[in-house]
Amino acid sequence: MMGYFEILVLLFSFVLLCYLLLLHDKTGLPTNWPLLGMLPALLKNIHRIHNFLIEIFEKSHLTFLFDGPWFTNMQILLTIDPANIHYVMSKNFGNYPKGTKFNEMFDVLGDGIFNADFLVWQYHRKMAQYFLGHPKFHHFLVKRTREKLENGLIPVLDHVSLHGIEVDLQDLFARFTFDVGCTIMMDHDPKSLVVDLPTNASSKALDDVEEAIFHRHVVPTFVWKLQRWLNVGKEYKYIKAWKTLDSFIYQCIAEKRKEVCSKVQQPSEENEVCTDLLTLYIKEDESDKYPTILSNNQRDKFIRDTVLTNFIAGRDAISITLSWFFYLLSVNPLVASRIKKELDSVMIDWRNFKEANSKLVYLHGALCETLRLYAPVAFEAKAPMDPDILPSGHRVNPNMQIIFNLYAMGRMKSIWGDDCNEFKPERWISAQGNIRHEPSYKFFVFNAGPRTCLGKEMAFTQMKVVAATMIQKYVIEVVDERQVIPNMSIFLRMKHGFKVRILRSK
Ligand code: HEM
Repeated sequence: MMGYFEILVLLFSFVLLCYLLLLHDKTGLPTNWPLLGMLPALLKNIHRIHNFLIEIFEKSHLTFLFDGPWFTNMQILLTIDPANIHYVMSKNFGNYPKGTKFNEMFDVLGDGIFNADFLVWQYHRKMAQYFLGHPKFHHFLVKRTREKLENGLIPVLDHVSLHGIEVDLQDLFARFTFDVGCTIMMDHDPKSLVVDLPTNASSKALDDVEEAIFHRHVVPTFVWKLQRWLNVGKEYKYIKAWKTLDSFIYQCIAEKRKEVCSKVQQPSEENEVCTDLLTLYIKEDESDKYPTILSNNQRDKFIRDTVLTNFIAGRDAISITLSWFFYLLSVNPLVASRIKKELDSVMIDWRNFKEANSKLVYLHGALCETLRLYAPVAFEAKAPMDPDILPSGHRVNPNMQIIFNLYAMGRMKSIWGDDCNEFKPERWISAQGNIRHEPSYKFFVFNAGPRTCLGKEMAFTQMKVVAATMIQKYVIEVVDERQVIPNMSIFLRMKHGFKVRILRSK
């Protein structure tokens, strides 16, 4: 039974909590309370976290130190100041490796490029640059993308438009990029984009992995580690998903190894780059060129880590950007008709990426605007190896995390001007009618400095092929605009999906 004293303490704590939740600091910034730190403000605003962060950055000149409760030892420097980004990502790059905390959170990626530092990262980067940057790879990519459009996306869209069925376009795009990704990475088409929309175990496993990784970011480390130890909750799903992904990828590796070893191919540049990523890496392995830091039995794991990382890198960012792009077109019909006009006025040879780029300036601008307003990778995190002072004057030390919030960054008047909340492709077009370049530490959606995204060109190619085909063939009607809101995760998806009706264009 509870005594009077305990009841009084409980009542007092409750009143104190209500008081803390209701109060604001005079500056409008979260109050740093004894013991609780800024947790009350965070809890109060968690349901509107994106707008809350925008307000904080506006009031704090783009950088703010968040103090967690005393028992979590949590200090996070939130910043979207381009000078800080330039400094961390480029000027003092050596002091900001991914580090052990990041590696631990993303342990499913093993030694893949996202998780790697120093020698292993350099090796990955060289290989990926060669593969993704080669013009012949673009031909291969366009070919596979168009095949999937013709045999996957278009038949499904035709089917739903014919029968007047509402469909979740975000889900269709995720299936599309998953199928194309599997074909490009592993020469295997899982055919998840067909009319009856089957569940794919590996795609579902990727969703579970991402959900658990996000969870690891929001709860104190000891909580998720305890869950992992007890094998419960999101950690249980994570381990199960990890096993599913392992068995899928290792099976593909074994089959491909057999195929590569049994085929005698003439070594030519054509064979090397007009092929899937798995074949390329297995050939590299067979020719004994892997870094000496890897022992023989680590080689399959190294390939598995590479493939999985590229999967995660490619699948979500593209499908999410396409979803927001079509949403923005639906609420900005004038932009949609200008893109259509541009597409009608030129003949595009998609194999010549540079030419397609120079001809589709307005479409490019509209995609950049989408990425600015809805950066699919909404957060980036770093921790310094040694204490440092950022250009904004803030001190950082190895116990701290630095978090960059890209959603707020795209909506800052001081960075993008008073019209920052408007969707204006013209922002990206120079007076001469060419694409306007913005420095990566300002347009940070593809990261900046030596770790800049390697799939940027690939992503634009794929998005343009899909966008151009769909705009010419269909009209997209959003079922309920109010339902289109961003979620809170490591990728900025639409929380309730993107429910639309598809009509054939006249
Ligand atoms: C709209 C599409 C995309 C966006 C917005 C995007 C964004 C990013 C971002 C923010 C990073 C930094 C991640 C980090 O270090 O924490 C990154 C890295 C990377 N991205 Fe992308 N990405 C996109 C598409 C792709 C595609 C299609 C690929 C190809 C498979 C790709 C390959 C990579 C790779 C390999 C890295 C690691 C670079 C390194 O650490 O050196 N990305 N991307």
